[in-house]
Amino acid sequence: MRWRKYIDFDVIHLLVGAIVGMGLSSCQPEMPVISTITVEADGLTVPVNPDLYGLTIEEINHGIDGGLYAELIQNRSFEDGVPPLNCPYDAARNVLITPNGWTIPFMRGDSVPGWRRIVPNTQIYPDMKELVNDKNRRSLLVAVSTSGESGRGGVIAEGYRGIPIRKGERYDLSFFAKGANMVPRTIRVALEDSMANTVLSDVFQVAPLYEWKRYRHTFTATEDAPNAVLTITADTSAVFWLDVVSLFPEDTWKGRKNGLRPDLAALVDSLAPRFIRFPGGSFVEGYTAGTYPIWRETLGDISERKHFWNVWAYGTTNGMGYHEYLQMCEDMGAEPIYVINSGITSQSRRPRYEDITAMDKLTGDALDAIAYANAPADSLPGALRARNGHPEPFNLKYVEIGSENYGGEYFRRFELFRKAIKEAYPEITVISSSPLTKRGRSEWVDSHYYAGENFFLSNSGRFNSDRYSRRSPAVFIGEFGTTERPLAGTLRAAVAEACFLVGAEENPDMVRRLAYAPVLGNAGFENQRHPLISFNTHQAVVSPSYHLLKMFTRHRGDEVLKTIVDTYEKPQVRTGRAGVEMFDNSYEFKDVRIDGVPVSDISVMSGGWKVPEAGTLVPEANRWNHVLFGDSTSYAYEYTATVRRTKGSGQIQLRLRDNGWTGEQADYIALTIGAGTSELYHQVGGVKDSLVSPVRFPFESNRWYTVRMTCEYERVRCYVDGVLLHEVDMRPIPSLVSVATLDKENRVIYLKVVNTTRHEEKTSLRIEGVNIRNEAELIQLRGEPEARNTFENPGAVTPVTEPIVFPMSGPFIYNFPPNSVTILKLYME
Ligand code: AHR
Repeated sequence: MRWRKYIDFDVIHLLVGAIVGMGLSSCQPEMPVISTITVEADGLTVPVNPDLYGLTIEEINHGIDGGLYAELIQNRSFEDGVPPLNCPYDAARNVLITPNGWTIPFMRGDSVPGWRRIVPNTQIYPDMKELVNDKNRRSLLVAVSTSGESGRGGVIAEGYRGIPIRKGERYDLSFFAKGANMVPRTIRVALEDSMANTVLSDVFQVAPLYEWKRYRHTFTATEDAPNAVLTITADTSAVFWLDVVSLFPEDTWKGRKNGLRPDLAALVDSLAPRFIRFPGGSFVEGYTAGTYPIWRETLGDISERKHFWNVWAYGTTNGMGYHEYLQMCEDMGAEPIYVINSGITSQSRRPRYEDITAMDKLTGDALDAIAYANAPADSLPGALRARNGHPEPFNLKYVEIGSENYGGEYFRRFELFRKAIKEAYPEITVISSSPLTKRGRSEWVDSHYYAGENFFLSNSGRFNSDRYSRRSPAVFIGEFGTTERPLAGTLRAAVAEACFLVGAEENPDMVRRLAYAPVLGNAGFENQRHPLISFNTHQAVVSPSYHLLKMFTRHRGDEVLKTIVDTYEKPQVRTGRAGVEMFDNSYEFKDVRIDGVPVSDISVMSGGWKVPEAGTLVPEANRWNHVLFGDSTSYAYEYTATVRRTKGSGQIQLRLRDNGWTGEQADYIALTIGAGTSELYHQVGGVKDSLVSPVRFPFESNRWYTVRMTCEYERVRCYVDGVLLHEVDMRPIPSLVSVATLDKENRVIYLKVVNTTRHEEKTSLRIEGVNIRNEAELIQLRGEPEARNTFENPGAVTPVTEPIVFPMSGPFIYNFPPNSVTILKLYME
């Protein structure tokens, strides 16, 4: 792509508008052609990567339990209050504390989420002694005390904020019960309205014996209700235990037992994912022993599956286990990419490292998982798979070791997995979750791109050969999406993401896979990040990003055509304060100034900082120290500091335009020195966007250095002791971004064009080397930048499909609407 610089056509449009408005022009001025897109349809092409687009499907946001997995009963085996091993509950803070000191929200041991008792006649007690089997760690003891006159007693299962039922539909109930009385007491089970006032199904009556027994019944709903409940009640005094209370609609996706909620599965399927990476994400990482999935513990009867309190702070049933994920991939025609815990729990949550000498167990587990998926039905693992309903192999070809793991400890463990897998299954691609040093080798590296709008808008060129070495490992983007709030979920976010996707499509040799995440989120619960598909008990709504992905996955073609975009770009300028981030107090600072004025007014963001006198900053020992100063609304200033390292060999980071946020909302420019190199980059959310290649910069301890950094519009300069180390412009934002592909069989060119501006972009389209018909078709996502889809207005942003006719003679001119993503289907003669 070729971009012309510095004219912000939003401004030109405003000026033209003003001229007309002021009556300065007697006639409507004709907007000039602003941009040109040239497609060399007869030039050199590269094959399209047909497998590019996929999804990461993870247990997050109740996307699986309470979402895609069709089970209607929350906390069905009453294990939600069982803490992981060696994790005491701190009642004052309502958290669990792991052996390594990480805390995660929890609840009192007697809480039973998803259930309530009928008062005043009922007492309930989670019971860790009366168990249906040795894998199940809690049941529920229900004690009803009533003469009948004071009403019934019992428990009410509320589902995941309600149980949706539809008149005439059938629902399969199963549960274990055991009576405490030698003379069995009758209990009644039914579907009722949300207040448990009106029965909405037939009633199932049973008198539990003095031993555990599984009972089954199929209800037929007599009414529609989005938020029904399941009641288990007695009209007389009775004491009984319950466990593994399950209610499944018979209507599951593709009619599978223990299957998927049809509307959600259909929405996922409709994205035509070429692969599905599962079951996470951080879900795979966990936060301490026993809090991440182990494939063999997620198989078989639902009463035997391992329940754990997951990394997102809710209970996981593993009802949707390894087998169900593989089955879903097969049903959707998607290549399974199985992610396995690397022996390290989440490194951002005070990790636990599996003893390196005990890794055989884990690598053996990985081999067994592959065998379960791929071995013939007459082998032991294959027979187990066949018993679970799938005699044919699933043909698993990709395994990822860990998610978001990194560093030396990870590399050592990765290497053990890689070696074991490659020896047994040379055909399997083993993916690492971070780039490896020479100590390890991986075929594909999974990078995650959770970032702000500006990153995506300005990074369609990230994988171009001038920025991304062709000697690097292939790119596997296992997770990406706009995380900047409040933009996530808006059309604006989708437009930004579209720029990034165009870049990925243009570089099929480097970008092998690209998955959006998270995909699903139950709106009744707190969500991490904005999902593609939000849902409640009975509705689902998709985000503009969902539509974008659907548009892109449906229009792939076979060959990428060379496309030249001649357009304008605007500088990326954000405001923010200056600051320092570092560990410990190993550096001294003096003469810290903004525009020549010694700093005295500081905001301590983390750690501790003192200002003994203006311009002198003193960080705290053994802490991560982050401090900010200067004006948060300023984008042009000079920041100077004189620094000296007094101990260790650690680095410091001096920042410009720091918005003060951390994690996914972070945005700042960072200069890092002290560790032998000097680096300058733009941190946008979770993504480090290097502005220059790091340069060698030996740094001596006990010597004062004077650092000067300036930012002015898009230009950033860094000097050390008067020598210019870096001079760079922030990445610009092009007005148009585009890629074209050719569908050879149908003789169609798909021209994808993103207009990032707030105005119509009048564009001349030149398709060279072939004749194009004047009638074309467009598919377009357009609208107000901040528009988003909601349950009330699910169609606020949906693509339109329209025929378009170009004039018989003259160039093809098209006005791309503001803030839009367009696919033009151009038919070759
Ligand atoms: O997409 C949500 C989470 O974000 C994933 O679990 C994790 O990998 C990432 O940090």
